[in-house]
Parts: sequence; C-alpha cells; structure tokens
Amino acid sequence: MVVHLLLPGYPPASHLMVDAGRLMPCLPVVCHMDSSIVLFGPPGAGKGTQAGRIVEVTGKPQVSTGDMLRAAVAAGTELGRIAKGHMESGGLVPDDVIIGLIEERVKESDARNGLLFDGFPRTVAQAEALAQIAPVSLVIAIEVEDESIVGRITGRFTCGGCGSVYHDLFRPCKIEGICDECGSSNFKRRADDSEETVRSRLAAYHEQTSPLASWYEQRGLLHRIDGNASIDEVGFRISKILDE
Ligand code: AP5
Ligand code: MG
Repeated sequence: MVVHLLLPGYPPASHLMVDAGRLMPCLPVVCHMDSSIVLFGPPGAGKGTQAGRIVEVTGKPQVSTGDMLRAAVAAGTELGRIAKGHMESGGLVPDDVIIGLIEERVKESDARNGLLFDGFPRTVAQAEALAQIAPVSLVIAIEVEDESIVGRITGRFTCGGCGSVYHDLFRPCKIEGICDECGSSNFKRRADDSEETVRSRLAAYHEQTSPLASWYEQRGLLHRIDGNASIDEVGFRISKILDE
C-alpha cells in the first residue's frame, strides 16, 4: 500500500510524484528529472522515424530499448546474450532485464531534462516500474493497421553511420546509396525484419503491449495519432500535440 511508504518527513516532498492522482515515492536519484515522453505503437508504426523530430523540438534524448538491445547483441555482452533469442523470435525480452536497463539509463546526466522513450514501456509491469522511477507527462500512440506494417518493416533500412531510418518505397535516399543526413554509404537491414518475425512481433504487441494504451488512457496521458498518413503528415500531427 502506497500510504505505508509515506512516513512523516520521508520521503521528502521533492521525492514524491503523482501517478494516476496518487502521490507516489520515487527513487531519490531520479527525482530531479523533468517529465518524459513515451512513444507508443506497434512495430513499424514509425516511432523511430518520428523520434528525431521530437528530440529536436523538446531537447529530450531518445531512449530506444530496441537500439540498446541491438547494440548489446552486437557487442556480445551478457545483456545481448540474454536478449538475442527473444529478439530473433519476435518475443519480448523479460521485464526485469528491461527495467534494470532503464533504471541505469535514467541515472545518466542527460536524463535531467526528461527522456523520449521509444519502444518502452511495452508491458503493464514496465509501465508500473517506470511510474516509480521517472515522471511521464505525455504518451503518443501512433496507430497503424497490421496490414500496412509488414510492408513498412520488410522495406526498412537504416544508415549505419547516423541511424537515420529509410524505406525502399516510402522514404528512399535522395541520392541512391548515400545517407541524406550524414553522407554515409553504409546501410543495414535488421535481422528481425523478416515477414515471419514481424508477424510474431505483432502478436506480442497485441497480447502484451496494446493493453498499455488503456492503462495510460486511465491516467489521462494518452494521445492517439492516426499513423496511416505520410511521414510528414504524422510528424505534423505529433507537433500539434507537443504545442498543446
Ligand atoms: P524495437 O527496435 O523497439 O522494434 P519495434 O517496436 O518492433 O519497432 P520498430 O523499430 O520495428 O518500428 P518503429 O515504430 O520504430 O518504425 P520505424 O520508424 O523504424 O524492438 C525490437 C525488439 O527488441 C523487440 O521485438 C523485443 O524483442 C525487444 N525489445 C525492445 N524493447 C523492449 C521492451 N521495452 N520490452 C521487451 N522487449 C523489448 O518505421 C518502420 C519503417 O516504416 C521504416 O522503413 C520507415 O521509413 C517507414 N515509415 C515510417 N513512418 C511511415 C509512414 N508514415 N508512412 C510510410 N512509411 C513509414
Ligand atoms: Mg524503432
């Protein structure tokens, strides 16, 4: 029960935050954080594509758990060893592993202005943990139907130099083979972007992640965006929410 944690004088007022209208204690190390934003949506919804614009507008660094896990797999760390099989099968990496990763990330100095979470949280357990460690003021849900997602993901490639996200049809490079942003000609395709794995990722999304939308809606934080529009139009819809 939350009330048992609120002993007189402890935690101090600066170590409390509001979740769903209740005062909750938060970890002292992160209580000085400004509020964070969550980018929510199925695989291929356009979270990574839109993240760059939101970072530019808000100054909140992007934290993509998918990118962190892929870096760990590439580096062959213990985290990467645990995550690899889950990612290859299109399933979720266990909650305790992901929550531990975020607890460490929010301790970094650039987290003070709040963060832009991309692909986290993905379960109610992760959202409950996040509510304890960092205040969230806005959840942007990019909604796209399953039928559009397979085509988006199987056509995706990213710049190995700067991470910019492209698509064979929907966002090709202006000059073929050269990144618009950094000029690199080193491009990558993700190991989990096959049609078969995308279908497993979609199943995991519908079973474990989509219930989070109503969890955040109940807390008055969810803003839904219709993601079935051009990249620029979706960006415009998001910027209107950020302006509110
Ligand atoms: P992660 O890397 O987060 O993948 P994801 O959620 O499946 O999402 P994607 O990165 O595939 O899609 P996106 O929404 O970023 O779309 P993008 O902008 O690239 O996670 C990978 C794996 O790691 C998970 O499966 C899981 O195993 C594990 N994991 C990660 N976080 C976890 C967590 N919190 N808990 C447990 N496990 C976790 O766009 C896709 C393509 O579409 C691009 O080519 C783009 O150019 C194109 N596109 C974008 N917008 C549009 C548009 N409006 N119109 C047309 N094309 C568009
Ligand atoms: Mg992404």
